[in-house]
Amino acid sequence: MLPTQLWANTRRSIFTASLPKNHENPLGLPLNNTRVPPQIPRRGPISGGLPAKRKIPNVKHVVLVSSCKGGVGKSTVATNLAVSLSLLPQRLRVGILDLDVFGPSIPTLMGLKNVEEPGLTQAGALIPITNHGIPTMSMAYLLPPASQPSSSPTPNSDSEPPTNEDTPVVWRGLMVQKAVQQLLFQTDWSAAISQNTSPGLDILVIDLPPGTGDIPLSVGQLVDVDSTIIITTPDILSLSDVRRGVAMFRKLEIPLTGLVINNAYFICPNCSERHYLFGGNPNDERNMFAKGVKAMGMGGDKIVGELPLVVDVGRGGEKGVPYALSGRGVLGETDAGKIWQEVMKTIAERIWGELRARTVK
Ligand SMILES: Nc1ncnc2c1ncn2[C@@H]1O[C@H](COP(=O)(O)OP(=O)(O)OP(=O)(O)O)[C@@H](O)[C@H]1O
Ligand SMILES: [Mg+2]
Repeated sequence: MLPTQLWANTRRSIFTASLPKNHENPLGLPLNNTRVPPQIPRRGPISGGLPAKRKIPNVKHVVLVSSCKGGVGKSTVATNLAVSLSLLPQRLRVGILDLDVFGPSIPTLMGLKNVEEPGLTQAGALIPITNHGIPTMSMAYLLPPASQPSSSPTPNSDSEPPTNEDTPVVWRGLMVQKAVQQLLFQTDWSAAISQNTSPGLDILVIDLPPGTGDIPLSVGQLVDVDSTIIITTPDILSLSDVRRGVAMFRKLEIPLTGLVINNAYFICPNCSERHYLFGGNPNDERNMFAKGVKAMGMGGDKIVGELPLVVDVGRGGEKGVPYALSGRGVLGETDAGKIWQEVMKTIAERIWGELRARTVK
């Protein structure tokens, strides 16, 4: 063989055989191309399968507030939605269950930081803790306040003392599963509102942790859910997270009411114009976010509401007073604030409409 031919053969064998292989499997893990991708376990009569979805005791309807991405305003919407539902003319009894075991924020948002541990009924069920007329339960209530970090021997006088929300939950999957099941099925919502003749709640709003991990999956598989809203900001980065969430809820056959676009725009107090801070106007047909949402069948009336960014919404949350209570002498109102409240009320009405329709069916 001529030397040039030999080199050509060697080069071909390097680039067609060894390089692509190394590139495809840089860690050298054993490959199994015949493996079936993981599946969500199915419920069913087969023994060993998952148990059938069941009702939460003393709760008529369950509404999930999910966001597939972290920090988009899910807990803020969950608390304000609960308040807005309770303010509807039907005088609904509404509670909140905080299932964000690793990052609970309902105690802060509801003004219930560092409350005493919840009491127990005679049967050993947890008794919810109430503020603003809304009974709540959170993992944070069951944890001791976090200790001062040993690395800072002189505590900063400006910072607040640690609360039980700051206590890290360092559990593995099984412990979390157990805690979630206990919070779901061993909280006594009948004890929450005592003055009513029929005990229990009309609606339980559940604040889920972000993503499609263990906790949302368990809730979807164990609980008979009536409605789900997915909170998102109107940008492309959120879109793939939303897509995953929508796929999960559809696979689990959970009623998906739609998307709430949070921080959809900001109304400048000086020029009263709408400024689209994230990803542009979600109602513009050319907008990539709008196109993506439409493509996954979540456009049109599946957009349940578009909430503006309102500084006082965040401030209200920090103070433990949900902004939906403003206008009732609790907080001041701005034009953007009024729009936010109107939209929040529309979201509450839409959800109540869907829940009622399910009852009539
Ligand atoms: N419409 C809004 N206008 C102004 N601030 C808002 C609005 N919605 C949420 N925020 C603020 O955004 C921050 C994140 O909100 P929140 O904690 O509710 O998000 P989250 O999705 O629950 O986060 P996590 O994924 O960490 O649980 C908070 O400081 C909150 O006050
Ligand atoms: Mg949250």
